[in-house]
Amino acid sequence: MLRILLLSLLSLSFVPTSIAQDEQAALSIDESNFRCLSEMSRVRGFFVDNLMDDLDGTLAVANSDVGGVYPPGSVVQLVPTEVMVKHPKGFNAATRDWEFFELSVDESGSNIDKRGFVDVVNKFGGNCFACHVQAKPEWDMICEQDHGCDPIQLTRPAISAIQKTDPRCSDNPELEVEEKEALAALLKALAGPVSAE
Ligand code: HEC
Repeated sequence: MLRILLLSLLSLSFVPTSIAQDEQAALSIDESNFRCLSEMSRVRGFFVDNLMDDLDGTLAVANSDVGGVYPPGSVVQLVPTEVMVKHPKGFNAATRDWEFFELSVDESGSNIDKRGFVDVVNKFGGNCFACHVQAKPEWDMICEQDHGCDPIQLTRPAISAIQKTDPRCSDNPELEVEEKEALAALLKALAGPVSAE
């Protein structure tokens, strides 16, 4: 009897520890993990995936009205070149286990230009973490339009035009007139400072 009690106590104390250790191993992520936005699952204005076969878990949090913690393996994107990927629990407490990526993309796929945790900066000089950490805690650093982050300088038509022109996708739809205009205005604004030099 005592033996059985001891054994069950041992298993109780060992099992959770070994799970916790496994959970802290980093996901190995390379450019092959990223794909055409429209092949991912759309949630409102953004796209999600899961690298650990738990798309249902990712979708449950993304679709929740009250927020939640995204499961390990979650991939989240608004535009083709900026990605957040969730590592296993306990991997990086500051970023709540999110790793930030800045990609460049073309017809042949994705290339990782920058990756990391608190120090990744986007093309416009904005620090991903510093902005996304402003989201209220229940949203797990996901900003959308009303979770408390500073806004980005892109209109809805511009965002949807950027999403629909992901060069990695083979079946991009036609742009609506207002999306075409937004994209043209954006390209002009981006070209401005360069041509002025
Ligand atoms: C100035 C603040 C700011 C910076 C800097 C910033 N973001 Fe965001 N990000 C936002 C906002 C606001 C949204 C939601 C935009 C919308 O839906 O209209 C967003 C959307 C996203 C989304 C879709 C999910 C969500 O949070 O709504 C991802 C993924 C993302 N950003 C990744 C990044 C990465 C990676 C970087 C750095 C390379 C970055 N962001 C830099 C503010 C920022």
